[in-house]
Amino acid sequence: MTATETGGEAPAPAATAPLLEIDHLQVLFPVRAGMLGRTRAHVHAVDDVTINLTEGETLGLVGESGCGKTTLARTVLRLTKPTGGHLRFRGNDITALGQRDLRPFRAEVQMVFQDPQASLNPRKRVGQIISAGLALRGMPEKDRPARVRELLAQVGLSPEHVNRFPHEFSGGQRQRVGVARALAAEPRLIVLDEPVSALDVSIQAQVVNLLDDLQDRLGLSYIFVAHDLSVVRHVSDRIAVMYLGKIVEVSPAEALYSRPIHPYTEALLDSVPIPDAERARRARKPVQGDPPSATAPPPGCRFAGRCPHATDVCRRVEPPLVAYPGGHLAACHHPRNVSAEDLAAAVISPSSPASSGDSLPGSEAAL
Ligand SMILES: Nc1ncnc2c1ncn2[C@@H]1O[C@H](COP(=O)(O)OP(=O)(O)OP(=O)(O)O)[C@@H](O)[C@H]1O
Ligand code: SF4
Ligand SMILES: [Mg+2]
Repeated sequence: MTATETGGEAPAPAATAPLLEIDHLQVLFPVRAGMLGRTRAHVHAVDDVTINLTEGETLGLVGESGCGKTTLARTVLRLTKPTGGHLRFRGNDITALGQRDLRPFRAEVQMVFQDPQASLNPRKRVGQIISAGLALRGMPEKDRPARVRELLAQVGLSPEHVNRFPHEFSGGQRQRVGVARALAAEPRLIVLDEPVSALDVSIQAQVVNLLDDLQDRLGLSYIFVAHDLSVVRHVSDRIAVMYLGKIVEVSPAEALYSRPIHPYTEALLDSVPIPDAERARRARKPVQGDPPSATAPPPGCRFAGRCPHATDVCRRVEPPLVAYPGGHLAACHHPRNVSAEDLAAAVISPSSPASSGDSLPGSEAAL
C-alpha cells in the first residue's frame, strides 16, 4: 500500500497509478499595501510542490505553523486557486476547472477540518448536516434518513443523535460528525487538516483509530495534516515534511523516524516525545528560532538560518530533492543518515523544484 515517488526506484505497477498528482504546485498570496491596494509582495505559501498519492494510501503532511500545510490541503480540494503547476485526479487535470465541472470531483474528495465546532453549522441538526453530503451524491431525499443513521453508527455515534445540534456533542463526538459528513459523499480521498489537534489528548487516539479503521474498511486515501510527527506516525504510509512552502523530505513512515535525512526532520523529531532507543541515547536538539518570512524567502536552502550543518553552498544554492533508495527523498546538500552506497545510488528526483540546483550531495559542487 505504500507508494513511492518517481525517481530512482522501480516503476510503479498499474494498480498503484496515482489517485492524485500534485505537480509543481504553487500558491502565492498577494500582499497589498497603500491607498490603491497595490501588490507589494507575495506570500510563498506553497512553492513548487510535487507529490503523488495512490489509492488507499495515507500521506502524513507535517511542518511548523505557517509552512503551508493548510494552503496545500485547501488547494488540493480546489478551495484555494493555485498560482502555478497542475493538479490531476485520476489522471484528469482539475487545475483550472470551473465550479460546474468540479462537481463530480467535489464528491470524491472531502475535507475534515481542525475545529469541528467552527466547521459544523450550529443552526443545523446533525441529520441535516450529514444529508447535505448525500445530496451531493444525488441520493433521493426519501433514502437519506436511513443512510444518515448508518453513517452515525459507522463513526461510533448513536443513530438516535440525528436530531441533535452540534453544540450538544463533546469535541470528539463533533469531530466524528465531521467525519460522517465527509463520508456521506462517498469520497475516495479525505483531506484531514489537523483533525485531532483541537481535541483532548485522551480523545485524540480514539479519533485517529476511527479514521484508521474506516480507511481499512472503505479503502479510502488520506492526506493527514499535523504539526508534529507523533500524531501521524502510526496512520501514515508515507510522510512528507514541509518547510516554508517546500517539501524537504518524503519517506515511508518508519524510515522517517529511524533514519531522517533532512536536518529539519531530525530537529522536528527531537521536538516531540517519540520512543526510540537511538534518539533517547543522544542529546536532543529541537528546532530553534523562527522560520524566515514567507514573503521574502532566503536564497539557497530555506532552513539554512536555523541549521547546525549549514555551509556556504547552503546559503547560495537551493538543494534539489534527491531520491535515495527505498523511496526516500530529501532536499539537503549535507544529508544525514545516508551511507556511501545510498549516495552512489542517489538521483535528482523529477519532483525537485525548478529553482533548485542540479548538484547531488557529495559532488564537488555541493561541498
Ligand atoms: N488567504 C491568505 N492570504 C494571505 N496569506 C495567507 C493566506 N492563507 C495563508 N496565508 C499565509 O500562507 C502561509 C502558509 O499558511 P498555512 O495556513 O497554509 O500554514 P499551515 O502550515 O497550515 O500553518 P498552521 O500549522 O498554523 O495551520 C503563512 O505565511 C500564512 O500567513
Ligand atoms: S542544505 Fe544545508 S542548510 Fe539546508 S538543511 Fe541541508 S545542511 Fe542544513
Ligand atoms: Mg494549517
